[in-house]
Amino acid sequence: MNRRKIVAGNWKMNTDLHEALSLASAIRDNSKSITGVEKIIFPPFTFLSALNEVTKDEKSLAIGGQNCSEHEKGAYTGETAASMLRSVGCEYVLVGHSERRTYFSETSAQLISKIKIALQNNLKIIFCFGEQLSERKSNKHFETVKLQLEEVLTSFPKEEILNLVLAYEPVWAIGTGETATPEQAQEMHAFIRKTLTGIFSKEIADQMPILYGGSCNAQNARDLFACPDVDGGLIGGASLKAEDFCIIMKSFS
Ligand code: 13P
Repeated sequence: MNRRKIVAGNWKMNTDLHEALSLASAIRDNSKSITGVEKIIFPPFTFLSALNEVTKDEKSLAIGGQNCSEHEKGAYTGETAASMLRSVGCEYVLVGHSERRTYFSETSAQLISKIKIALQNNLKIIFCFGEQLSERKSNKHFETVKLQLEEVLTSFPKEEILNLVLAYEPVWAIGTGETATPEQAQEMHAFIRKTLTGIFSKEIADQMPILYGGSCNAQNARDLFACPDVDGGLIGGASLKAEDFCIIMKSFS
């Protein structure tokens, strides 16, 4: 199956303006010749507008917001609306990252609202989910992931669902240096595709890109991306180094 290949960098709460500008410029310049893969960066909100100026002429490099509000606009101090992201050139938004779920107690109901508003504003969504270490240890990882998918994705009709990309990010692998083995990643990605077949159809499941995230780096990306159901990566730490991030983009066989 010839699915879209995607490599996305989640910068989290890192860089200042100067560093963000030079990182984005280096990624733009070093990745120019890399074809056949969609490239996305998710910088902090405050730099999006400036980085749009850096990336806007490079069609294969998109920018996105790391989060958006569940509300359209109004008296929500400190929040950022999906329409605001769109207005500064974002094509994407991350929804449901484990750090948002854990540190900001985001619920599935909130994630549904965020995705609805993002879709209304013509943003594409990378929807993140994944099990905690305790859930994997007690063999509940499949059950957990199925629930995370069903609770959110069943709110969307088939016609809209392909505006989403999925990112499986086992929490125990995020920022820990411990990566899921290619076997563990493939096993879960195949399970996710089966779950999508159950919710939507085989046709949709076959088309939906599913990214792996969690200590994916320039050394292990090739083995992970060689798995038939792994369509790329959502990269944290290694996306802060232009050279490593570009090696990851070139890691499809
Ligand atoms: P690391 O690649 O730093 O483990 O982070 C993964 C992640 O959370 C990407 O969203």
